[in-house]
Amino acid sequence: MRNLSKYYDSTSTLEDNYEALCDPALSVSTDRQQVNDLVLNFVIKYLARYLDLDEKEQDTNLLRRNIKERVKKITGALLQEYDGEGFSLGCLMDIRKTAALVKEIAFNDRFKPEGEKPNDFFRSVDFGSGTGILLIASLIAARRKDVHEIVGLGFEREEGAINKANSVLSGLLSEKREFATVIKADITDPNTFIMLERESTHFWISETIDRSIPRINVQGTTLSFKGSQQDIAHALVEETKDPFIRVLQHSLTHIPDFEENVKNGSIAMFPDLFNGDYEPNVYYSKMTLKTGGNISQPLMIIGEEFNLHEDLELVSRRW
Ligand SMILES: C[S@@+](CC[C@H](N)C(=O)[O-])C[C@H]1O[C@@H](n2cnc3c(N)ncnc32)[C@H](O)[C@@H]1O
Repeated sequence: MRNLSKYYDSTSTLEDNYEALCDPALSVSTDRQQVNDLVLNFVIKYLARYLDLDEKEQDTNLLRRNIKERVKKITGALLQEYDGEGFSLGCLMDIRKTAALVKEIAFNDRFKPEGEKPNDFFRSVDFGSGTGILLIASLIAARRKDVHEIVGLGFEREEGAINKANSVLSGLLSEKREFATVIKADITDPNTFIMLERESTHFWISETIDRSIPRINVQGTTLSFKGSQQDIAHALVEETKDPFIRVLQHSLTHIPDFEENVKNGSIAMFPDLFNGDYEPNVYYSKMTLKTGGNISQPLMIIGEEFNLHEDLELVSRRW
């Protein structure tokens, strides 16, 4: 185990870390350690900012204790119950996997901005944006391509999460040309998607699998996003609380070029539903995360490269 203080640099701000990650000269392949350190610092500082803590706290143990205390106050419990505002906070606090997702999104260069001039316009949308951290990671990806007009749009249903995310995002972006906002909307409602019909969506994020195992009625169809629209429609859904499949379905219907963009890897950031046969008890162990291009990783191993001091794991874990 590495020492906790190595993962946290108290001399830089959240804004410093954001700007450093936006630098196109920083390469995910040749500067791997630097990228990982920056991403981890960014995630920890985002978490501290989200919880109104001093993100430049020198004493990392104190920072960790303060984070735990603050979370206890907000949720009234140690996130054993994954619901309400605590749900997305629980995700953010899973620092190892959050860092892996942020890195994957921020360094994705497969999407294609557009406009009259190349790189004129970029829009990312996060369906179920929670704390906003994955949405902001997508803006880093656009900045790294030096896109002129950058817009991030989050849809979320939890008031607390919406307000908090908007406050952190507007503070972080206050002096930047890029813009991000979270609005209250139900991502299972097709009307939410109608507002996306008129402009392209270049980056699509939806981390909306949850602990209620969806009852997917496969009807003999192999459900994979590589399949056709038909496959996905067939797979719909009996009494599931999980919005993911509906978000996919509405995206296929309302977002211009969605299916094509997913297939060519230029937009995508989503868990694949499963590989092979559906077996409820091994749901998560069978799932992979598809992140555009050909990258597909089992959920269970995501984030291993961010192996942390055990103290930093705090109290939550996604999958
Ligand atoms: C797994 S969390 C995503 C966390 C987020 N990626 C983050 O890192 O903060 C799923 C989010 O989707 C939101 N959500 C679930 N169902 C929704 C719905 N029908 N409409 C809008 N938001 C929804 C939840 O409130 C939660 O914040």
